[in-house]
This record gives sequence, C-alpha cells and structure tokens, in this order.
Amino acid sequence: MFYLNLRHLLPQQRISSLMDLFNSKMGWNSCIIWFVFVSVCECWPLPDSDPPMHGEVQSPLYPQPYPPNLQEQWDLSVPEGFQIQITFTHLDIEASGGCYYDSLTVLYDKKLLGRFCGDENSADGHHPGYQPILSPGNRLTLMFQTDGNNPERHQNMGFSAHYQAIDMDECSAPEPADGSGPLCSQICLNTLGSYLCSCHHGYELRSDQRSCVLTCGGGIFDEPEGYLFSPAYPNPPPQALSCQYIISVESGFTVTLNFTDNFHIESMDTPDGPSCPYHWLQITIPDREPIKLCGGTSPGLIATNSNTVRLEYHTDEEGLSNGWSLDYSTHRVKCPFPGAVARGRITPVLTEYFYRDHIYVRCDQGYKLMMDGQEVESFSTICQSSGQWHLPLPECHIIDCGEPEPLLNGGVTFLSGFQNQYRSVVQYHCNEPFYSLLGGVNVSFICESDRKWRSTNEVVVSPTCIPVCGRPTNLLSAYQRIIGGSEAPKNTIPWQVLLNSNARGGGMVIADQWILTAAHVVMDENGQKASTDTTRIFMGLTDAQNLSSPVYPSSIHVHPGYNNPNHDYNNDIALIKLQDPITFHSSIMPVCLPAKDATYTTGLMGLVSGFGLTEGKNNSGQFMTNKLKFVQLPVVAQEVCSNSVNGLKKMKTGIPNLTDNMFCAGIPEGGKDSCQGDSGSAFTLRENGRFWAAGIVSWGMECGKQGTYGVYTRVANYLDWITNIMQEN
Ligand SMILES: *[C@@H]1O[C@H](CO)[C@@H](O)[C@H](O)[C@H]1NC(C)=O
Ligand SMILES: *[C@@H]1O[C@H](CO)[C@@H](O)[C@H](O)[C@H]1NC(C)=O
Ligand SMILES: *[C@@H]1O[C@H](CO)[C@@H](O)[C@H](O)[C@H]1NC(C)=O
Ligand SMILES: *[C@@H]1O[C@H](CO)[C@@H](O)[C@H](O)[C@H]1NC(C)=O
Ligand SMILES: *[C@@H]1O[C@H](CO)[C@@H](O)[C@H](O)[C@H]1NC(C)=O
Repeated sequence: MFYLNLRHLLPQQRISSLMDLFNSKMGWNSCIIWFVFVSVCECWPLPDSDPPMHGEVQSPLYPQPYPPNLQEQWDLSVPEGFQIQITFTHLDIEASGGCYYDSLTVLYDKKLLGRFCGDENSADGHHPGYQPILSPGNRLTLMFQTDGNNPERHQNMGFSAHYQAIDMDECSAPEPADGSGPLCSQICLNTLGSYLCSCHHGYELRSDQRSCVLTCGGGIFDEPEGYLFSPAYPNPPPQALSCQYIISVESGFTVTLNFTDNFHIESMDTPDGPSCPYHWLQITIPDREPIKLCGGTSPGLIATNSNTVRLEYHTDEEGLSNGWSLDYSTHRVKCPFPGAVARGRITPVLTEYFYRDHIYVRCDQGYKLMMDGQEVESFSTICQSSGQWHLPLPECHIIDCGEPEPLLNGGVTFLSGFQNQYRSVVQYHCNEPFYSLLGGVNVSFICESDRKWRSTNEVVVSPTCIPVCGRPTNLLSAYQRIIGGSEAPKNTIPWQVLLNSNARGGGMVIADQWILTAAHVVMDENGQKASTDTTRIFMGLTDAQNLSSPVYPSSIHVHPGYNNPNHDYNNDIALIKLQDPITFHSSIMPVCLPAKDATYTTGLMGLVSGFGLTEGKNNSGQFMTNKLKFVQLPVVAQEVCSNSVNGLKKMKTGIPNLTDNMFCAGIPEGGKDSCQGDSGSAFTLRENGRFWAAGIVSWGMECGKQGTYGVYTRVANYLDWITNIMQEN
C-alpha cells in the first residue's frame, strides 16, 4: 500500500526512511522496531542488479501501426515483496470477438489476468480501460500476438503501458491454502516490500518469526511475598511451554509455597500411580531431590526451608493442562530453642527464635559467665541465617573471692561456705590474748557478687589486730622488793627489757617496735648518745645469764630537754625504735602507756622490776643480780619526796633537783628500792586489770636506805612527745 520510490536511495537511507515511517505509523518503541526490522532487513535479499521499480512497455513500432504476424513477450519484474501494477495509457489492437485475431495477453505465472484488443470505443473487443491491472506478485508477462490475414487493416497502433512496483500488503493476503496457517499468528505489520510479525502484550515471538508464545517465567522473584501463576491461568494456556520461575529471597529467610486449590497439570495414570511424562511443574530446592508435580490435586503448602526455589513448568504440544497458581511467602529461619543455662537467665524469653534474634545470658548473682573456660563480661548470641546460633550457650560458674586477706597477728576462720565461693562467710580473729581486734568486735566478711570480701560491720573496712598491753598471762601472786625482792616468774613482767648499751640498763616494751627507757641509759657522761650498733636489746628474759638473741635498734630518740651533764636528770626519757617489729607472745608483751588524765595517787602500789643491783641479806655489800626481780612500792607524795631530797642536799652535793617531771616511790623505812642496774625499767601501776607505765626508773640516793626514795620519770608528762616520736619515726 505504500509507495516510495527507492531506486536512488542507498540501503542505509532506505532503512532509516522506513524507520521513520514505522514510527509515525505505529507509534511503537523504535528500539524494538529497529531490532526487528534490522533482522528482517538482513534476510531481505538485495540482488546485485535490482529489477527496476518502474518502466514502460510498448508494442513494436508504436505509435506506428504494428506489423502482422507478431509473437512478442515481455517478462516484467520488480523487486521481491512488491507487486507490479500496469496501466495502459493507450491500447489500439484489431478488435475481434474474444480477441481471436490480435491480442495482448496479461499473465501472472500462467494465470490469465486479461486478454485485450480493440480500442476504447470499439463495441467488440476487450479494452482494459484506464484502470491499472495489479499482478498478485512481482512478475508479469505480456504477450502480444498479431495475425497476418488482413494486412490492409493494419492501422492499429498497438499499445503503450507503464508499470511500477507497488508495495505488496502481505498481511491482507488470504491464508495460504496449504494449511500452514496465517502469515503471522497474531499481528502482521506490512512493510515496504515485506512484512513483520509481532505479538500481543504478554506474548513473545518465537524463533520462527511468525508465531507467538506467552512470555512465562523469567526474572527473579525477590520480594518477601508474591503471586505466581502459569501462563494464561486460569484460562487454557498455549502449548509447548517451558517456563522457569526463580524465587530468591534474602538468606535467613525461607520460602513457603501455597498452591491454590485450582491446580491442573496433565498426568498419566501408571500402575505405580500418576506420573508426569509430558507436562509437569518441577520444584527444585538446593541440596534436595527435585519435586515433580502433576495431576489435579493442589499440593497445598510446601515449606521449602530454603531461600531459593526454582520452578520449571513444562508442557508439550499435546494434551491439556489448565495450570496452577501459588502465593509464596517468606519466613525468617528458625534457630533451635536455646535451652537453659543453669544458674543463669536467657533473655528475651520467646517461644521460638528466628534469624536475627539476639539472646542474652546473664548469670544469677554470685555467678560468672564462662565460655570455653574463659570468663566473659557479657554474652549474647544471634540466630544466623543458617538457622544456627553463632555462639553456643555459656555456663554460669559460681564466683569466688579468692583467699581472704591474711591478718597480721591474727587469722581467719570459715564460718560458712565453701572454697571462698560466693556467700562464704569468714571471721577474722586476733591472736588472743596478745592481740585484740581494733574496735573489739568480731568482724565477719562475706564473699559478695563483685568478688570482694565485704565486712558485715559497716564501720570496719579491714580488720586490724592491736597488741594487748599490760596484761601478762601470768600474774604475780605476791609483790616483794627488788633489793631483797623476789625473782619474777616467767611471763609475769613481759614488757621488761634488758638493755646493753653504755652500761646495763632496763627498758620496757610499749609497742611492737618501740622501747621506752631512761635517757641516761642511752647517753654517756659526756652527753654522747649510744650507737645503735653497740646497743643490744634482750626481751622475754627472766635470767640475764641465759641471754636470748638480741634485737637491735634502728634509731634512738632522747628527749631534747635532757641535759645530764648538769646531773639534773630532768626529762630522763628516751625511745628506741627497733629494726623489726616484735610479735608478742607470753614472754614479750607491751605495757600500756598512761591515759591522758592519768593520776599518780599517793600510796598507790606500783610494781618495779629489773635486773638491777640487789643487796645481800647479810647487808655486807651489793652484787648484780642476773635474775629478773620485782618489788612493790607505793607512790610517795611529791612534798614528802621533795623534803627528803632537800634534806639530802644539805648533807651532800650533786643531788639533783626534784622536778614536776619526776615522782618518788618507796617506803620511809627503806629496804626496798630500785637500784642502779634497774635504770630505764618500768614503775607500773595497775588499773582495771592493766599495768600502765607510770614511771621510768631514773635516780636515787642510796639503794633501799631509810628515808630515801627512788625517783622516777613521770611518763604521763611525756605522752605527747612519745606519740609524736612514734608517729614521726
Ligand atoms: C494458603 O492459601 C489459602 C488461600 O488460597 C489461605 O486460605 C491459607 O490461609 C494459606 N495458607 C497459609 C499457611 O498461608
Ligand atoms: C568472736 O568470735 C569468737 C569465735 O567465733 C567467739 O568465741 C567470740 O565469743 C566472739 N566475740 C564476740 C564479742 O562476739
Ligand atoms: C635458757 O633459755 C632457754 C629458752 O630461752 C631455755 O630453754 C633454757 O632452759 C634456759 N637455760 C637456763 C639455764 O635457764
Ligand atoms: C655476806 O657477807 C660476806 C662478806 O661481807 C660475804 O662473804 C658473804 O658471801 C655474804 N653472804 C651472802 C649470802 O651474800
Ligand atoms: C636546783 O635548783 C636551783 C634553783 O632552784 C639551782 O640553782 C640549781 O642549779 C639546781 N641544781 C641542779 C643540779 O640543777
């Protein structure tokens, strides 16, 4: 139907011109057309010498009358895909009935299209008129025959015609009679010199370029849910289908197919039940045998437990399957139920756990999380896309606080519990009777969930053992004098120290690293302090002949007010720090220091001890005792003592002044006293069952002489100095 003179156009130009034509005519996507068209063009033979698109034919000698006895033939042709249309501009042939004598015969493949003679005015004859004659194909044969019977009548001019190629509308041609079906099964598109087949929406052209099949399958269904159905469902489908559908969702999800009830795939009944030899729907799940479905019963739900499923629908040319449809949905992969953790809790508590669910495990109080033998701070595991937990569950082990801190001079006992584990209770105690707990109350510690031992007593953070002072384990039954005094039984005066420095002297233990003594014991006549190297200290002795191994001082601190070159014995007090602390026991224990408000009540009996001089019973001289001796002496009123000292001063020179830093003890009748060798030893008073250091043996006149007293450093005056020195050193 289209006419276009293409003779002078190059093929490329022709194609683009055709393209334009298509686009304007069909409004189709030019890309598709281009593709289709090109494929058609490629198959379109373009011979080297194209037949002409038009031409003219004339009878011999035209416009002169034609000669007789002619037998002329013209075989006209135009390019393939075109028809020839011929138009006679002039026809003048001898007219005769049935054009018997002269004639122009028009043939297409031996098919007669017309036999013409006469002219436009002749009554007989057959003139073609001026309507064109169309050949069914691209060829046309003209045969011009004349006879020789009446040459005088040869006044007829013959004919003149022109022909042209006319595009053939293949699409409107009737179906071929050979039963091969229509040219195009759905849509035929006429093109210049050819035609194209096309398909309705939803169909695609098969490789035969003429028939259409439903497009089916293809693509990937990756949405979490969807609807799939066989081609044309629920209408009868086309035949010979081979469709593939792939459902592939995110890993961690599984696909469940839910076939609708309306399910029909041709099946064959065999002795072994229905089989699907020709039509089937095959469901392929990775790592599993494919499932082949057919028959008239819907498979209903199929849980694939996989995130990818392939469906292949196959039918052949025969038989009938109405097809199938299904909804698919996706579900998160399920992980096994995690179970339970002894002494622990799993959260959150759900009936089922799915992909991406987390669980956390916490241990009960007092228990710790353990994984592979290692303690972990916290634990969580996640349900993986594989349906497995990424970590196995941990265990909860009871926590323990480790060994309780040891207590110096004490110990710890288990009250309850096991192996220092959570909630175990221990109690600290001090080594009685030499030590007692600071605060005096029993302290229990409990192993808490933070793995620390915690005191049950809010005040006590850590227990401390303090030495018990002034409480000998062995009490003296009777007091006697030193001069003529009694030997002290073991452990009765455990604070007694034997000092070997410039001379022999005494001292008393007041703390585990401190000895209190008289200044003059550690200072020589020239005011020279004894060296720590040459000062030896013996403790726990009752017999100076059987010396224990000595301990040594680390420092010696003499009261700064002591100025003995004047022989005034004022401030006759000194402290010795020991190199190492002493552990107290029955034979070595400290004496208490005076209380802040200590009073020296006249007449109060004190205890003086020492390895000092003693007087023989026969009064014939003095000798050094090696035994620890003790005597009981009362505190003497300061005035009485002062009178005694002043009385002596009148008779003797070099008698020291009695100061307020001194006090006296003794009995007017004499006979009991502390003497030289006792210097530095303690004068103790006993109050509330404790001995406290009231005095330090300092000086005297004549040992045990009537009317004279022993003079002692008043320790209570030096409490601040003592505590300062002890704190600062
Ligand atoms: C399957 O589909 C049917 C409707 O076709 C519906 O009633 C049914 O609840 C679906 N089953 C599941 C498990 O989704
Ligand atoms: C302290 O504990 C010990 C032993 O557990 C017990 O004998 C003692 O009576 C307790 N003392 C006090 C004051 O509770
Ligand atoms: C000397 O002291 C030790 C212990 O310190 C004791 O075992 C021993 O009997 C004592 N010897 C004498 C002669 O007293
Ligand atoms: C008594 O004195 C004499 C000498 O004065 C002495 O020889 C003797 O050992 C003394 N007796 C005692 C028991 O001390
Ligand atoms: C004793 O005191 C008097 C004054 O009260 C003083 O002159 C004298 O030097 C003092 N004696 C000594 C030994 O300090």
